[in-house]
Amino acid sequence: MPYPFQITSLEEYQLRYKQSVENPEKFWSEVAESFLWKKKWDKVLEWNFTEPKVEWFKGAKLNITENCIDRHLAEKGDLPAIIWEPNNPEERTRVVTYNRLHKRVCQVAQMLKNNGVKKGDRVCIYMGMVPELAYAVLGCARIGAIHSVIFGGFSAQSIADRLEDAKAEYIITCDGAYRGEKVIPLKDVIDDALVGNKTVKRVIVFTRTRTPVSMIKGRDIWWEDEMLYAEEQVEKNGVVKFDAEEMDAEDPLFILYTSGSTGKPKGVVHSCAGYMIFTAYSFVNVFQYQFPQVHFCTADIGWITGHSYIVYGPLAAGATSLMFEGIPTWPDAGRFWNIVDKYKVNILYTAPTAIRSLMGFGEAPLKDKDLSSLQILGTVGEPINEEAWHWYDENIGKKKSPIVDTWWQTETAGILISNLAGVTPSKPSWATLPLPGVQPLLVDESGQEVTEPDEEGLYKGNLCIKFPWPSIIRTTYGDHERCRTNYFATYPGLYFTGDGVLKDKDGNYRITGRVDDVLNVSGHRIGTAEVENAINMHSGVVESAVVGYPHDIKGQGIYAYVIYTGTHDAELTKRDITMTVSRIIGPIAKPDKIQFVSGLPKTRSGKIMRRILRKIAEGETKNIGDTTSLLDPNIVEEIKNGKV
Ligand code: PRX
Repeated sequence: MPYPFQITSLEEYQLRYKQSVENPEKFWSEVAESFLWKKKWDKVLEWNFTEPKVEWFKGAKLNITENCIDRHLAEKGDLPAIIWEPNNPEERTRVVTYNRLHKRVCQVAQMLKNNGVKKGDRVCIYMGMVPELAYAVLGCARIGAIHSVIFGGFSAQSIADRLEDAKAEYIITCDGAYRGEKVIPLKDVIDDALVGNKTVKRVIVFTRTRTPVSMIKGRDIWWEDEMLYAEEQVEKNGVVKFDAEEMDAEDPLFILYTSGSTGKPKGVVHSCAGYMIFTAYSFVNVFQYQFPQVHFCTADIGWITGHSYIVYGPLAAGATSLMFEGIPTWPDAGRFWNIVDKYKVNILYTAPTAIRSLMGFGEAPLKDKDLSSLQILGTVGEPINEEAWHWYDENIGKKKSPIVDTWWQTETAGILISNLAGVTPSKPSWATLPLPGVQPLLVDESGQEVTEPDEEGLYKGNLCIKFPWPSIIRTTYGDHERCRTNYFATYPGLYFTGDGVLKDKDGNYRITGRVDDVLNVSGHRIGTAEVENAINMHSGVVESAVVGYPHDIKGQGIYAYVIYTGTHDAELTKRDITMTVSRIIGPIAKPDKIQFVSGLPKTRSGKIMRRILRKIAEGETKNIGDTTSLLDPNIVEEIKNGKV
C-alpha cells in the first residue's frame, strides 16, 4: 500500500507539483494529516524571508518519537525498525524491533530525566554508530531536549567550541568507537574538550570498545547502570511507558553544526513538526519506500544525512533502517556488498566518494555477492561524475535499479531536488527535478532571475529557493542575525543555497558545486576559513590560504598555501601543520597538499585572490587571468613554479 502522500507516477508528480505551488498550505496540510498530533495546527504557514521567520503548523502539538515509534507498535511492534551491522563482520548483529526501540528510547528518556535533563536543554552526543546513538537521539526528542550530535571525526577543540556555542549541559558518549581496524577513544576526546568547560554537568558513557577511560566523580556516569535503573522505572508488569513531552510544532528539535564561509561553524536549528513531515515525505517519495523494504543509508548519524535518512525519515515512515558501524573498505572492499547480500538490502543510499573509492577496487569485491535484492540506489553529498554514475548503475544496480541523485543541505534538512525513483526520469550527474513543495530559482550575481540560456541551451546561475518548505533552517543557534546574513541577505527575499547550478530546458537541475568558500571533501563540508585558522595556529606560520582542487576519490582535496618563517625542516613542518589541523578541527580537515610560499596574491585592499590560487592548485597555470590588480604580481610566478 502506498503512503497517502506517495507520488507514484509522472503524471501525478506533475499534478502534485503544480498544486504545491498554487496552494502550498493545502498541499502540506494534506501531507501533515498522515501524522500523529496531540493537537492540530491553528495555521499552516506564516513566513517572511526578511527577518527571516518561518512557522509551519503553528499551534500544533506533537512529539516526533510518537510518530517514529509509538504509532507503529500495533502493526509493526515485532518487526525490525533498525538492523545494526557491527564494524567487525564476525561480531553478532542486532535487530531492533519497534517494540525494543520503544523500550530503549523510553529508558533513555527516563535516564535523562533522572539526571535532570529538561525540555529545551542541550545534549551533545558524541558516539560511534551503535544503536545506542539512535536511542540517545530519540530519547532526547522524547523529553524535548535539543540534541546536538557531533561526528566522531571532530577534535576536542571542535567539540569544545560547539559545547560552548550550544551551552550544552549534558553529553552522551562512548568509551570508544570502532572504525575499521582503528579504535577512536571518544571519551578521551571528550575529556580534552571539557578542560575549561563551565557548562557541562553530566557525561553519560556507553561501553562499546572497553577502552580504559577516566571517570570523574560527580560528572561521569555509566550508561549501563543508568539504563538498568531507568528500566525499572519505565517497565511495569511487562508494559513499557514513558509519556512523551508535548512539543510545539516550532520547538527546536536539534542543532547540527556545519561549516560556512566564515571561520566558525554554525549551529543549524531545525524544528519538530516541519522536520518530521519533510523527512518522512521526502524519504517515501524519493526512494519510493514500501514496507518491508530494507533501507541502507551508509552515512554517519553525525551528519544531516544520518539524522534524516537513517533515523527520523525512515522511522517516521515506519520503515526498516539499516545502520552500519564500520567503513566501506574494512576488512575488505566488499563490505557494503556483503551487507547488501546478508540483509537483502533493497535501497542503498551512499556518497559519490564511496562509489569512486570502491570503483578503484574493480569488480573483484563484487564476486560471489548477491546484489539482486537491490531495487533503488541513491547518492548524496556532492556532484556525481558520469563515470561513477555508470559504474554504480551497471555493477551495483545491474541497470535495473533507478539511481536517485539527491541534492540538499544541512540547512534544508531533507532532499529538495532529486528524481523520484522509477517515477520521474533520471539523468546521469543531474539531480533533476524539485520535489513537489520546493520552488527553486536561478539567479545571476545581481539576484535577477536567469531567463536566457547560454549557447548550449543551459541556464547558469546561483541556486536559490523562493518559498519555504517545512524543514527549512529556522535559525542559527544563539545568533539569528547570522542566519539572516548567511542565507537570506545575499539575495533579498530568497533563501540562498551557496551552490552554483545549471538548468536545462526541461527544468532539470545539475548542481555544479559551491560558489562560496566552502569545500566539499568526500561529501563533507569544510570551510576554507576554518582550515586557514587552524593552520595559522602553527607557531611558524605567518599566513595561509586554502582552496579546493579536483581529487579523484574525494571530489575535492584541500590545498594549502602557507607562508612559513620557521627554521625547522620543511617536510617535518608540513606534517606538523597537518597534525595541528587535525588537533584543531579533526582528521577530516587535514590538507592534502601544502605549498610553502613567500607571499600570497593579494589585491591592493588586502584581499586574497583565491581565483588565482584555485587555478594553480588545479594545475592550470597558463590561464591565470588578469593579475594586474595584484599588489605584487610577481608572487604568482613564484607560486606557479613552487613545489608542494
Ligand atoms: O554543495 C552541495 C553539496 O553538499 C552541500 C551540502 O552539504 P551538507 O550540508 O554537508 O549536506 C550534505 C548532505 C545533504 C550542498 O550545498 N551537495 C549535496 N548533495 C549534492 C550536492 N552537490 C551535488 N549533488 C548532490 N546531489
